[in-house]
Amino acid sequence: MSGFSKKLLHWHKYFNQRQMPWKGEKNPYKIWLSEVILQQTRVEQGWNYYEKFIQRYPAICDLANAEDADVFKLWEGLGYYNRCKNLLFTARFICNELNGIFPKNYEEVLALKGVGNYTASAICSFAYNQPYAVVDGNVFRVLSRIYGVEKAIDSTEGKNIFTQLAQENLDKKEAALYNQAIMDFGATVCKPANPQCATCVMKEICVAHNNGLVNQLPVKEKVLTKKTRNFTWFVLSVKNEIFIHKRTHNDIWQNLNEFYLLETDEKNNWNNEKVSEFVNNQFSINPLSINISKEFTQQLTHQKIKAVFIEVKLKTKPSSLKSGEWITKNNIPFFAFPKIVNDYLSM
Ligand code: ADE
Repeated sequence: MSGFSKKLLHWHKYFNQRQMPWKGEKNPYKIWLSEVILQQTRVEQGWNYYEKFIQRYPAICDLANAEDADVFKLWEGLGYYNRCKNLLFTARFICNELNGIFPKNYEEVLALKGVGNYTASAICSFAYNQPYAVVDGNVFRVLSRIYGVEKAIDSTEGKNIFTQLAQENLDKKEAALYNQAIMDFGATVCKPANPQCATCVMKEICVAHNNGLVNQLPVKEKVLTKKTRNFTWFVLSVKNEIFIHKRTHNDIWQNLNEFYLLETDEKNNWNNEKVSEFVNNQFSINPLSINISKEFTQQLTHQKIKAVFIEVKLKTKPSSLKSGEWITKNNIPFFAFPKIVNDYLSM
């Protein structure tokens, strides 16, 4: 078992506080139902739908024998009715053609209408403890950060790499526990925004954390075609030195330098309190002072960059910033930066 998997299971056993009604569930029908609902909505909202469905249709043949309209009514608000139709189709298929017995074999589960690799792995691991690693958004994010994988998660090559990495890390004897653990870890600690790095049990082994790349991973190819991107650059300084690092990943401005970057889907309305919280979360250090710039913009051929620069004075250099370098302010002119950074620097 990898060091990551050991730490993950330890975290799950002693620190994972997440409660969900389908957790520890062994009934494949209920697991399948929960996964289909969770493809449509977030856990908080899905919880309610799940309980309503289970109450009304406690077993697969109850669902199979229901009127279409009643099931659609219960599904209301989840959207994408094709998923609901597949749910009914598969319930009827299992009830009528398979004597109500949910298939056990991975290939047979995968062959069910509306069931893809993710759902088949979830059902086979949670219900039967079979060694199939789930690969969902949480898993992509966690593995890309822990192992510092910069391949795009929405590319074919990236998907193959992550699927393989997920399978290698899977604790084959504890597939149910492991899969639940990695999803919960991604949802509560290694979150898309504001990951809890300062208190994370993976801190020492996390390549992204140790190289200041947490907010740049996972990489998505699609981002490159997004029209507007929101950047926040943290200009970290300790006395007369500032932190910069070279952009090496597959994105705009390769080989140019930048400050510590946070890219977000939405625009941030930063204030000193939010900055303090962010810096604390990322580096376990309280800023000595904070200065938030106006918004800068740069129009590139296919995308518009909106950027805010936040000057953060620190007492000591964060130990997690191992790649990149600290340069004195009068050496700034000797390094190449994107135009938008130079605009800020020349203010
Ligand atoms: N998202 C989808 N299925 C999940 C599960 N079993 N646990 C946590 N998050 C999930």
